[in-house]
Formats: sequence, C-alpha cells, structure tokens
Amino acid sequence: MADLGFDVLAFDIDAERIASLSSGVAPFFEPGLNDLLTKVLATGRLRFTTSVEEVAEFGDVHFMCVGTPQKVGSNAADLRHVSAALDSLAPLLTRPALVVGKSTVPVGTAALLAERLAQLAPAGVDVELAWNPEFLREGFAINDTLSPDRLVIGVTSKRAEATLREVYASLLSADVPIVVTDFATAELVKVAANAFLATKISFINAMAEVCEAAGADVTVLAEAIGHDDRIGHRFLRAGLGFGGGCLPKDIRAFMARAGELGVDEALMFLREVDAINLRRRDRTVDMARELAGGSLQGVVVACLGASFKPNSDDVRDSPALHVAASLQTEGATVRVYDPEAMANASRLFPTLHFAQSVDDSVGGADIVMLLTEWNEFCALTPDRLAPLVRSRHLVDARNVFDPAQWRAAGWTIRSLGRPSL
Ligand code: UGA
Repeated sequence: MADLGFDVLAFDIDAERIASLSSGVAPFFEPGLNDLLTKVLATGRLRFTTSVEEVAEFGDVHFMCVGTPQKVGSNAADLRHVSAALDSLAPLLTRPALVVGKSTVPVGTAALLAERLAQLAPAGVDVELAWNPEFLREGFAINDTLSPDRLVIGVTSKRAEATLREVYASLLSADVPIVVTDFATAELVKVAANAFLATKISFINAMAEVCEAAGADVTVLAEAIGHDDRIGHRFLRAGLGFGGGCLPKDIRAFMARAGELGVDEALMFLREVDAINLRRRDRTVDMARELAGGSLQGVVVACLGASFKPNSDDVRDSPALHVAASLQTEGATVRVYDPEAMANASRLFPTLHFAQSVDDSVGGADIVMLLTEWNEFCALTPDRLAPLVRSRHLVDARNVFDPAQWRAAGWTIRSLGRPSL
C-alpha cells in the first residue's frame, strides 16, 4: 500500500515484530520483501506501531490481516484473532472509517463482524465493514499483491465499494479484474479457490497412485492432459502434496462450515482430497523403507527441504518435515537441510537432526530424499552427490529429477507416480 503511494501505519501486538519491521527486516523469508520495506520506509509513507489507539486515530481504511488457524481438536477455523482485532479497534475509532477484512473466514463471519462493529463503535462515528479476501501465494507475495489475478470485494454499500475502488485505483487502471459482491459470496470465493487448488493437486496425486500401480508415468500424463486448455498445466505437479498454513486448514474449515450449514454432503469429496494428500507422505516414507531393504533402523537419510514449498521459510503443516519426522520415528538417522527454514523447523521439531548444508546432509547418507524443490536442490546432479553418499539411493518426492540420468549414473531412484524399474 505504501508502494502504491498511500500513507500506511501498520500495527501488531508483537513488539519484536514491529521493531524488526521498523528496521526494514521482515520476520519471515519472502523474496524481495526486505528490499521493498527498505525502499518504502525511506519514503516516510510506512510506519509501524504497537499502539491500537494510534492506528484507530490514523486510518481512513483499516485492513485486518490476522490469521485464522485450525482450532485445536477440531476442523473448524479459530476466529479468536479476528474477533480480538475488531474488538480492540472498534471502540477506539474516532472518525469515519472503512474496516476491511482480509482473513480467510467461514462464510457468515463478515455479517456477524459488521453487527459487532456497529455495536462497539462509539455513537455517532460512521464506520462500515467490507470483505476483501487475499489470494497471494507465499514466495510470490509482492507480485501477487501488486499485480493480482483479480480483486474481490464484498460490500453492503456503494460508498464502501467507492472507497475500495479508490484504494485499488492503480491496479484497476492496469485492468486487474474486480468482482463486487456481497459478504457471503466474497468469503466463499476465497475458500472455494483454495478448495479447487487442493483438489487439482490431489487429483494428479490420485493419478500418481494409479500410475505407480500400472507402471505408468504421472509426469507425462500431467503434461499430456495439461495441454487441454480446459485443464491447464498449473497445479498439476504430482509429488509429496500440499501443506502450509492455508490449503490444508482451509479445506477442513470449509467442510466444518458446510456441516453447520447442513450441506456437508456437498463437500464430502474434500475429505478424499485431504486423505489422498496425506497418503502421499506415507508413500514417500514407504519408498525410503523399500530402498533401505525393509527397515529404516539405523539408516542414514538426507532430507533435502523442510519448508512446505520452495521460496518460503514456512514450515506449518510441511509435508517435508512430516516425512522427516516419520523416518526418524522408524529408527532412521535423519539430517534435514533447508536453505531458509532451518530456524522455524528446529523450533517445531527440536528433536530432529539438522545439517548445515547440502554436503553436510548428504555426506555418508544411505538414502537422499528430495522433499522440497528449492532451486539449489533441483540443480544437484548424480555426479556431484555420488562421492558424498554411502549408497546411491534417491527418493525424488517432487518429481524434479530425470530418472534416466540418475539411473545411468548408477543410482537407484524412486519417484512418486513414476515407474520404479
Ligand atoms: C495458497 C494459494 O495458492 C493462494 O492463492 C492463497 O492466497 C494462499 O494459499 C492463502 O490462502 O493464503 P500458498 O499456501 O502460499 O498459497 O501455497 P501454494 O503455492 O498454493 O502451494 C501449496 C502447496 O501445494 C505447497 O505445499 C506446494 O508444494 C503444493 N503444490 C502446489 C503441489 O504439491 N503441486 C502443485 O502442482 C502445486
């Protein structure tokens, strides 16, 4: 927003984060973000604060961007942070303002929050709620924000629509499509989009299961069906499946909400989507066990990757770490290496063993596992790794390597959804 020319004051309850952001350092890895922060901090258009009074006084438009994680012990979304953000801001508003929700929430939440906003705002202060779901991907956050595929705004008045059109004027003048709708549809667009993406990944991973049984190659199958424009190639990469802080918990929260609305049957297929996805993790562990000759006891395994996807240090529900932890539980000595996610991974799984580099991870390994497709790992060659390992065994859980090349160099390679030979 500051880069687009607005004066921005950003608030968080975490003083450490605010201090770090104020000095131009994002508290997570996102390509290009620190440079952008430094650039806009220098303009004076972006400041950070831990004072909610200050933001309440400052803004014409307030974006609420807090997380909605999965509730402990349930599939539903935990809305505590959204409620807390609104409850702390609303009573302090002193002048006309539009409060804009960006969090991923169960359909119906915005309507409840709008009522609450009206109740909590001081009498006579003209405030309104809008819902504006976020579609950015980690690793591409800046580009997805500054040139999004579309904008979706849920509003209950022409005035709220006009304000958001003003906020996004530069994107709209660059022909970014905008969909203006009601609260419920805007909320549902977000979860429907993530449910579709998760389904697409699990579809190709289901095909991978069939390919494995039939001796076929899912990467060729994906390429062939993707040439059909109606299907397309994107999100058709078979492998270890999806993880992260969004897709897994969003499909579960969507099912939970559908149950509350009495339409659980409509989303029953998402249970299969979730199950197919989790089976890929087990299958990856099976492949390592098979390569080890039936038992992982005492086997040294190099795990390349800890983040849920490349170009991110996010390890929330990371398939890579799930696999590393399972291998260790079966008695393997794992050595996890990731270019950016080591600190987060060791916080979440302090009992895993972490290596300092690819060489440190792979040195003396009986099996090398490619679990997250960082460029650094994709560039590895059989000749580079051969002198380091104890046995030339590779599990390619992201289908990035050419099996023929590795086999020709004397490796035994197993890839998800491809013939094992
Ligand atoms: C996802 C959506 O793509 C964003 O549009 C959305 O805004 C975001 O969630 C959110 O709700 O906040 P993100 O979680 O950053 O974004 O990651 P994705 O790029 O969607 O990847 C999700 C997972 O799917 C990763 O673990 C990735 O490795 C896996 N994936 C992706 C595959 O296994 N195969 C593919 O073909 C594509």
